Amino acid sequence: MVLVRRGDPSMARSRARVRVYSCCALMLLCLVAVIVCVSVFARHARRAECPPGSFHSAAVAADSKTCSEIGRDTLQSGGSAVDGAIAALLCTSLMNPQSMGIGGGSIFTVMNSSGHVKIITSRESAPAKTAPDLLQSCPKTFQLMAGSQWIAVPGEIRGYKKAHDLYGKLPWATLFQPAIKLAREGFPIPQILGRYIPYIDTNETQALREVFSDVNGNLLKTGDLVKFEKLADTLETIANRGADAFYTGRIAEDLIHDVQEAGGTLTLQDLALYEATESDAWAVPLGEYQMYIPPPPAGGVILSLVLNILKGYQMNSPVLTNEQKTLFYHRYIEAFKFANGLKKLIRDPKVRPEQMAKKFTEDSFADHIRSLIRDDGTHDPQYYNITPHLDSVGTTHVSVLAADGSAVSVTSTINHLFGSKVFSPRTGVILNNELSDFCGKFDRIISGERPPSSMTPAVLKSPSKTLVIGSTGGGMITTGVASALINHLWFGKSLKDAIATPVAFVDSENAVKFEPAFDNDVIEALKALGQNHVTAKRFFNVVNAVERESGCICAVSDARKLGEPAGY
Ligand SMILES: *[C@@H]1O[C@H](CO)[C@@H](O)[C@H](O)[C@H]1NC(C)=O
Ligand SMILES: *[C@@H]1O[C@H](CO)[C@@H](O)[C@H](O)[C@H]1NC(C)=O
Repeated sequence: MVLVRRGDPSMARSRARVRVYSCCALMLLCLVAVIVCVSVFARHARRAECPPGSFHSAAVAADSKTCSEIGRDTLQSGGSAVDGAIAALLCTSLMNPQSMGIGGGSIFTVMNSSGHVKIITSRESAPAKTAPDLLQSCPKTFQLMAGSQWIAVPGEIRGYKKAHDLYGKLPWATLFQPAIKLAREGFPIPQILGRYIPYIDTNETQALREVFSDVNGNLLKTGDLVKFEKLADTLETIANRGADAFYTGRIAEDLIHDVQEAGGTLTLQDLALYEATESDAWAVPLGEYQMYIPPPPAGGVILSLVLNILKGYQMNSPVLTNEQKTLFYHRYIEAFKFANGLKKLIRDPKVRPEQMAKKFTEDSFADHIRSLIRDDGTHDPQYYNITPHLDSVGTTHVSVLAADGSAVSVTSTINHLFGSKVFSPRTGVILNNELSDFCGKFDRIISGERPPSSMTPAVLKSPSKTLVIGSTGGGMITTGVASALINHLWFGKSLKDAIATPVAFVDSENAVKFEPAFDNDVIEALKALGQNHVTAKRFFNVVNAVERESGCICAVSDARKLGEPAGY
């Protein structure tokens, strides 16, 4: 018996159904193919649209090409943004040892891939035995402050440890390998380091001088091979045994031995008790962006105040006439004078509750300050609550944007050029002079207090864009970041051009220093408005930034320090 005959209408129906199904399947397949093609094409089209020199996945902007590349390689081998930042910082401690190192401290602003932002602070703290009258020996005008009395407890390595515990992907030891190799094998002295080596040509810095001398005792120059063999051993021990190896045990004993031999008050207990802190970032609305900044003792408050004052003027036209430019810079200078006046109120939250500083980041406070600014002139110094403090210099900044959208903005320092200029021969470490950052601001140092800092590693996030930015240069940090942000976000310059724009820096006595290429007509017009102009020999603002917009990543290392970014 035939169950299903040819002419069976139910069979015909089912065949028809099969035909319909396979037709649908075919259409679906075509649709999928079309979608795949379109998206591949779109990605290629989008890639093709990225301007030359930009990247597609991730980038690192450190202040030297070598260190940007080490950061990029770390990302490419599966590292997180934090891993890339730590590897780039360790490299920078060799390439620019005058700026930062494991004898200093840093502030990390870290955004994870879902956009949550945390701050890790490893700013150095005052040793328990800091001389009570130390601040009485502060100089009245800026000078490089060498000497063991200014050494604060180094926080750098505990900061890396905390950041790595929270966000690391690669093993801790892996992050140290490129730096250990560089330190052991040596490298030609880069131009920037070569420029600063003559600063250690004094009798007081004999140990440090030897690191940068040849066998005949002559100082090394740009291009000469330099090795850091003792530091390589120290880095290797920290790599293999973990961060505690720096704070307890042999390295700590050797470090304290050398510091005390140089007359310093640092003790083993100071080191053992040092802790890096972790907190939420402060968020400040800025146009379409949320700007994430570190709270005190960092300088985020100063940056946000200046930007909040200026955003209220709504001067966001791409082309400014000289008259508009003069008015803008006049207001900018006035804003910085008020910000200077607040600096002595910004203190470690361990000592002063954060609420007051937080108020300075609010729009209502900026509105109040704006109402005190007049467009046709200036006021005497008391009007701005002037508190002449010492502007510091030095420092490094690394900006990282990883392929998963996470980001790190980290500023690190030993304070002045070569810090305290105290070198520990047993460990290869150069010690910071961070206690000098208390000078001119407070009367007394509280044991364990972290000195106020201008460092302001920032991350800005909008629905479609991420901008990771920070600067070096002590008091010039906020100037560098504010100027780059204003020129990029409000005046429509490319990130590179915005960073290259010459800055106006309002010093701690409210005098204005203009970078050499600053428009002369505007300077004259500002003088006519009553601004006090002084000439400056050196500018230390160096801005390194990475930005992602519509699938393209633009990274800029400031040409002022001859840096170059790297990415893929
Ligand atoms: C980002 O951080 C927040 C807050 O800690 C957390 O809830 C979230 O899961 C994190 N996202 C990722 C991808 O780790
Ligand atoms: C170092 O000290 C010696 C001996 O006191 C002196 O002759 C020399 O000029 C000093 N050098 C520097 C760079 O101060």
